[in-house]
Amino acid sequence: NNMFAENVGEEHGYTKADVDAMQEKAKAVHKSIKAAKEAGNLGFMELPESHKEIAKEIKEFADANKGKYDNFVVLGIGGSALGNIALQTALNHPYYNLNDEARNGYPRLFVPDNVDPTRLKGLLETLDLSRTVFNVISKSGGTAETMSQFLTARAKVVEELGEDAVADHFIATTSEHSGNLIKIAKEEGMKTYYIPENVGGRFSVLTPVGLISAAFTGIDIEELLAGAAYMDQICDTDELWSNPAYLNAALQYLADQDGKPMSVMMPYAHDLKDVADWYRQLWAESLGKKVNRAGEVINVGPTPVKALGATDQHSQVQLYMEGPFDKVVTFIEVEKYKETLEIADGYEDISGVSYLGGHTFNELLTVEKQATELALTENNRLNCTVTFPEVNAFTIGQFFYMYELATAFAGELYDIDAFNQPGVELGKQYAYGVLGREGFAEKKEEFDARPAK
Ligand code: PA5
Repeated sequence: NNMFAENVGEEHGYTKADVDAMQEKAKAVHKSIKAAKEAGNLGFMELPESHKEIAKEIKEFADANKGKYDNFVVLGIGGSALGNIALQTALNHPYYNLNDEARNGYPRLFVPDNVDPTRLKGLLETLDLSRTVFNVISKSGGTAETMSQFLTARAKVVEELGEDAVADHFIATTSEHSGNLIKIAKEEGMKTYYIPENVGGRFSVLTPVGLISAAFTGIDIEELLAGAAYMDQICDTDELWSNPAYLNAALQYLADQDGKPMSVMMPYAHDLKDVADWYRQLWAESLGKKVNRAGEVINVGPTPVKALGATDQHSQVQLYMEGPFDKVVTFIEVEKYKETLEIADGYEDISGVSYLGGHTFNELLTVEKQATELALTENNRLNCTVTFPEVNAFTIGQFFYMYELATAFAGELYDIDAFNQPGVELGKQYAYGVLGREGFAEKKEEFDARPAK
């Protein structure tokens, strides 16, 4: 771990004593995490157990529908989309949508995660809707982006296939008891899955939010939950040095307090690039908070950044190496990639090229990581490494759980509520007002009164 003073120098690194000094706090936080779980306030911690049966049911549903659809589309945004994308990139064939053999009868997966008109129109006009199923995911059941996507996709399905086709082409994943989506789904006779009330959007990848698209594309969702359960066991200790989630959060917190708020996650495996994007949301939306302490408003939170090895060695790394001392880089390395690919021999007479032949791309990527790590360390740049023995459903389940728990722990260190997101509300309210949603007229007035450009 190159966050320690012995490796990166006194000025930037931490000592064992710095971590030990947080042990008492860790014990107290562990206690309050346990108590919050007992009280039913940390729903993500219950999922490895509570969703075992639900996962079985989802798998049966997906298996029963294998061959019925060629396309599976997730309509959702933020926490209702990013986990789906991360799972797809991490666990399915890199060209899954293009490769019929790799798909092995499962549908292609599309997650627009946005309301860009060009992209959505392009998607809807590309798909054969008679062979497409949409999973509309919204915990609140009212998010403007998701509901607009749904309205538009539904209208297209009705236009092409008739009203009766709606129930067969849409699934709803939402809150069981509140919001408009559940009402609509019941009226339409759509298959419904529920997001537990005590699991927030960005913590919901191991609920039907992430599990359905994963099961429909052949991912072993029971292994995902088993991985999370395993990490839950590992992290069931209040000893900082033995708890990877707590230790990780504690080191990141130390770095932030010490003027290093930029938290870069840099996997050296393309299949983990969207896992880094998932982390970016989790860390930012959970920890970036304005809090009022004894009448004084303070703003806290690290800034998560995603990067990709080796690609960003040719872009971001210059900044990481010589720019401000404001970053901590978390490398993610993979010990055994899914494939081994040899670099071909050639140009024996040109030694500057021929030396590559006979090595593997696996070696190349691994060496690139080690070289960047060493270079950063020699430049006194904080960095650490999370190692995947392999990328599979079990290890991805572990990773999700570890970072969710690290987020809960970090929330306590910052003394903020990691599970709300008041900061995203204001923009939403202005948009509702301008678009004419009932109850938001005042926001429209404020919007209209904004200073002219
Ligand atoms: O983490 C969160 O709470 C958010 O990112 C939500 O997931 C996102 O805003 C979508 O919300 P909803 O699922 O209610 O449509």
